[in-house]
Order: sequence, then structure tokens, then C-alpha cells
Amino acid sequence: MKRIRVGVIGFGWMGRAHSRALRRLPTVFPDRGLSPQLVVCADADERARQVAREGFGFERVTADWSEVISSDDVEVVYIAAPNMLHVQLIAAAAAAGKDVFCEKPVGGTPAQTLAALEATKRAGVLSGVGYNYRWAPLVQEARSMVASGELGDITNYRGRFLSMYGSNPLGLLTWRYLVSEGGYGVTSDLLSHAVDLAEYLIGPMTSVVAQTATFITHRPQPSAQASHYVAGGVDDPMGEVTNEDYVGLLSTFANGARGTFESSRSMVGPESQMAFEIHGTRGAVAWNFERMNELQYYRPEDGRHAGYRTILAGDRFAYHGNFVPGSANGIGFEDLVTIEDLEFMDAVAHRRPFHPDFNDALRYVSVQAAILRSAANRQWEEIGSVDVP
Ligand SMILES: NC(=O)c1ccc[n+]([C@@H]2O[C@H](COP(=O)([O-])OP(=O)(O)OC[C@H]3O[C@@H](n4cnc5c(N)ncnc54)[C@H](O)[C@@H]3O)[C@@H](O)[C@H]2O)c1
Repeated sequence: MKRIRVGVIGFGWMGRAHSRALRRLPTVFPDRGLSPQLVVCADADERARQVAREGFGFERVTADWSEVISSDDVEVVYIAAPNMLHVQLIAAAAAAGKDVFCEKPVGGTPAQTLAALEATKRAGVLSGVGYNYRWAPLVQEARSMVASGELGDITNYRGRFLSMYGSNPLGLLTWRYLVSEGGYGVTSDLLSHAVDLAEYLIGPMTSVVAQTATFITHRPQPSAQASHYVAGGVDDPMGEVTNEDYVGLLSTFANGARGTFESSRSMVGPESQMAFEIHGTRGAVAWNFERMNELQYYRPEDGRHAGYRTILAGDRFAYHGNFVPGSANGIGFEDLVTIEDLEFMDAVAHRRPFHPDFNDALRYVSVQAAILRSAANRQWEEIGSVDVP
């Protein structure tokens, strides 16, 4: 087994998800010969550090992220801290010669994502970004169906990531709602996944026209280190939400397809609809993370009996059988994180490029910059630079 020594910065939802994934790689993918070691974890919160040490078995924990970077026994740094911290952590880790995996969107603004890419290029280290939905076995199957021409020419793409995590007006004003800590709002947090997946599946977008909105403009102030998923009280002191709750857009793709996208963190109803529908001249596929073990497939040649049918996930699809054998025995969110970490660790072990990397992260923020320009000037925008008004 090849040992790879890992440091983790930020030990909330995703820091823990990656740490669990890294720990179990040798048990789920023993044939790949990779054995990540959890060396040091940095988090500002004392309770998080305790869980890292006692629950996850990190060799060391610290409140100071620079100790992760300066540790000679760390080869790879995982970054799962709030977005506006990403770029300084990446710059420091790259300058110290560490390979870097950063959670999406890599930075809180498009200019920061560009700076992060430049830092890793200058240092010649590997980078990876957490666009984990790419790794769903049935998403990979849909990509093969598009690439093989099975669906014909792609004419329409509909993407969405609708979540309810911000739908309660008393949900606390945590870092995601603040430009100073999260950077942009739902365009960074959720739409990034939906657009990344669209370009992964059917190719690059060329232009957009977009609108954004903030529906819940004030939220209760949190106590220190409060969770995003806890509500405050009506009499609590309130603070201002400083980034967007919602984005909707139309787009064109280089292959001539037309797209529509929506993302919201405050809409009531859809709980975690990270979903797409692809329509081609010879067929259509649809996938929704809420039912991630099902792929919907439509074939016109089924004639009188045509209609969407459900393909259930199973071990005949990529990666799936490593988690569970047979058919219709489902996998879940953290299994996608495990596949992503497997491939990043494999790239580190064999010094080969990994995708999605910070070039792919830059690709999304180029789309994001065009979306933000369009929302400001109410016109179609070409996708080009990362400049935002
Ligand atoms: N790929 C995905 O599906 C997915 C899902 C959720 C979040 N994310 C991304 O993961 C990142 C983290 O999000 P999260 O939901 O895990 O957030 P979180 O709030 O659950 O965790 C963030 C952690 O960072 C710690 N932290 C804050 N400041 C710090 C500092 N200066 N030094 C060290 N630690 C510090 C906090 O104490 C907290 O434990 C974000 O970039 C987010 O966009 C990705």
C-alpha cells in the first residue's frame, strides 16, 4: 500500500466527509494500493479538533492552519474552510510544495480562483476541486451516452441545483450568506456544481443571460461557530445577507445546444435537487441527485411504448461494485466523495494530472463572471474573462 500523508484544513461538513473517505480508501478500493494517512487537522473550533483527534484518529490537531502547511511530514493538503479563506491557504500550501485539493468553488470570487490556479502552476503542484457529482456512476454513464452519439445531436440542456438549506428566514447568518466570508452566494455555492456538470456532460457554454435575487435579506446573528442548519429566534439581533439567494439563466453551448439553469438556496420544496435533463435528436436522459441511483432514459424508437424508463444503479456501472455488489443496492453522497478522493490520491501517487483541477474551477468562474455581468447590465454576455463589475 502506498502511504500518502494528508493534512486537512476546515473540519466541518466537507472536511469530515473527505477524512472519512480517505480513511476507507484501502477498504473500498484495495486493488488500487492507496493508503492515505490522516496526519494533521486544523480547525478554528475546539470541538471540531477534538472529533478530529479522538474520532478520526488524526495524529495532531491545531487551531493554526499554517501548522498544516509548515509540517514537513504532510504531502497533500485538503482545504474545506469557508471560501474567502481558500486562496491564501492554497497559495501557502503550493509555495510549500504540497499538492492541493480544495473544495469548490476555489475562492470566493472569480479573481481569487484565477490567483489560486496561478499559485499551483507556479509551484508545479497538482490541484483538485470538489465537483463530486461528476463521479456518480450514473452521471458517468450519461456522459458516455452523450459521447457515443447514442442520444444524437444534443439540442437542449436543463440544469438545476435547488436546495432548501436557506429557506427558513430564521436560519442563522453563517459564512455562506456573507460576501466577506463566503464570497458570492448561490452562484458560487450551488450553481457551480450545475454548470460544471453541464460542461462535463455536453461541452462548453458560450454565452448567458441571467438574473439574481436575494429573497431573505436579514437573518439572525449566529453565536460563534454555529451550524448552518440551526435556526435562531425571532427576537435575536439580525444582520444583513450580503450575497445572492437565487440565480436563473439561459445559455448557449458551443455545440449549438440551448440551456436553462436555476439555483436557489431559499426556495421551499426541492430539498437537494442537483439535477439535469439532456435532450438529443435520438433520445433523452435525466438524473436528479435526490434519486441518485436512478437514470431516466427515453428512446423514440420504442414507438408506441416509448416513454421515460428507469435504469437502476448497480455494479455494472463504473465504481459502483466497489461499494456494494449486485443491482439496485444504492450508494450515497459520501461515496461520490470517496471516488473523487480515490482518483485524486491515485493522481498524486502516480504524478499524473487530475480532473477536475483548478483549470476546471477557473472554467466555471469564467461562466460565473459572465452571469454576474449579465445580471448587472441585463444583457446577454459572452463567456470570456473573469472580470466582474
Ligand atoms: N462538494 C460539495 O458537495 C460541498 C458541500 C458542502 C460544502 N462544500 C464546500 O466545502 C467548503 C466548506 O464547507 P462546509 O459546508 O464544510 O462548511 P462548514 O461550515 O461545515 O465547515 C467549515 C469549517 O471551517 C472551520 N474554519 C473556519 N475558519 C477557519 C480557520 N481560519 N482555520 C481553520 N478552520 C476554520 C470552521 O470552524 C468549520 O469547522 C466550502 O468551500 C464549501 O463550498 C462543498
